[in-house]
Amino acid sequence: MSTLPFPVSPVLREVGDYPFLRLDAEKQRVAATGVRLIDFGVGDPREPTDPMIREALAAGIRETMEYPKAVGLPELRDAIAAWIARRYGVTIDPATQVVPTLGAKEAVFSMAAVVVDPDAGRDLVLTTQPGYPVTVRGARFAGAEALALPLEESNGFLPDLDAVTPEQWRRTALVWVNYPNNPTGAVAPLAFYADLAERAAEHGFLIASDEAYSELYFDEPPASALQLPDLSRVAVVNTLSKRSSMTGYRSGFVAGSPELIALLKSFRPTVGTAPQEFVQRAAATAWSDERHVEEARERYRVKRAIMREALEAVGLRIAGSRATMYLWVAVPEGDTSEGFATRLIEHGIVVAPGGFLGPAGEGFVRFALVPTIDDCRTAAATIREVL
Ligand SMILES: Cc1ncc(COP(=O)(O)O)c(C=O)c1O
Repeated sequence: MSTLPFPVSPVLREVGDYPFLRLDAEKQRVAATGVRLIDFGVGDPREPTDPMIREALAAGIRETMEYPKAVGLPELRDAIAAWIARRYGVTIDPATQVVPTLGAKEAVFSMAAVVVDPDAGRDLVLTTQPGYPVTVRGARFAGAEALALPLEESNGFLPDLDAVTPEQWRRTALVWVNYPNNPTGAVAPLAFYADLAERAAEHGFLIASDEAYSELYFDEPPASALQLPDLSRVAVVNTLSKRSSMTGYRSGFVAGSPELIALLKSFRPTVGTAPQEFVQRAAATAWSDERHVEEARERYRVKRAIMREALEAVGLRIAGSRATMYLWVAVPEGDTSEGFATRLIEHGIVVAPGGFLGPAGEGFVRFALVPTIDDCRTAAATIREVL
């Protein structure tokens, strides 16, 4: 990038390409040799979006469509608040405590831009690792430093908050947590959020809880930071991408602290991230229905069982993986994440090396259970044959 005829952001130069772009290159290389790929790499559900939701989208297209407002349609904010009430037994005010987003990713990326304040000495963003890379990237582009909190299997893949020094807490603007967790599949009990909330009250930072996988569970429905008694320092991000197989629609929300939501309503019109109104109407339909979510959960349950059995049959160990669409698989002794992933892709099975999600992910690969049930059966047979 140094040879470009104009300056380049040093942060962009430093963070480089999004890691999953490397996986695309690897897929192209192997596909060119004639191997059929079954792709467990990226967590992009290849499930049909419920017809009712698609119809709501189509019905939302009008002859004239003006700029959408960043505050969002009242009907969508009401549907989200009603969903939160049903799911968590929590009442939030749809007028002041929720804002719709273009999916979770842009909200995760720009959260640091809204709260980091280097002049006030708040220039640190804490984020768990391995993890979704966007929290770190958002922090870096906002001029903050990102501090990785490693997720160790011995601690149930929860961060050790006692390891953060008083000096680091003083500098902390924002703490990201993500449960059910990508990539480990771990879930956090409400007591974890309560512990974090105590520290947030003591040190004055914002808790940002990315709950993108809250609906992909197979036993108890996971807890949410929205269940904390005081939401003044809480921002929960959620999305229809995984719950309703709607990655292509780009639809999510931030809910929680009225003060933070007011800041987002001030920030977001500048960025141009108000969701299209026809998407918001489809989203209102999606948040108002659970049947399609239960069906999707059942399909993931079947795929999990197929893959779990095959992986365990060849002696691989599955860590965490209580919820989400992921299986977090320890690589065999003496192998590296990338080495093992390369071995699998030569047989047509694409997985994400754990190291793509930060150095703490080394030693694992992640299977995203997004191929069809039939393709999972084919991949399971291959695993039994070649590993
Ligand atoms: C933890 C986490 N947060 C957010 C997202 C992005 O969600 P969305 O599609 O709503 O932007 C993902 C996508 O994989 C994710 O893994």
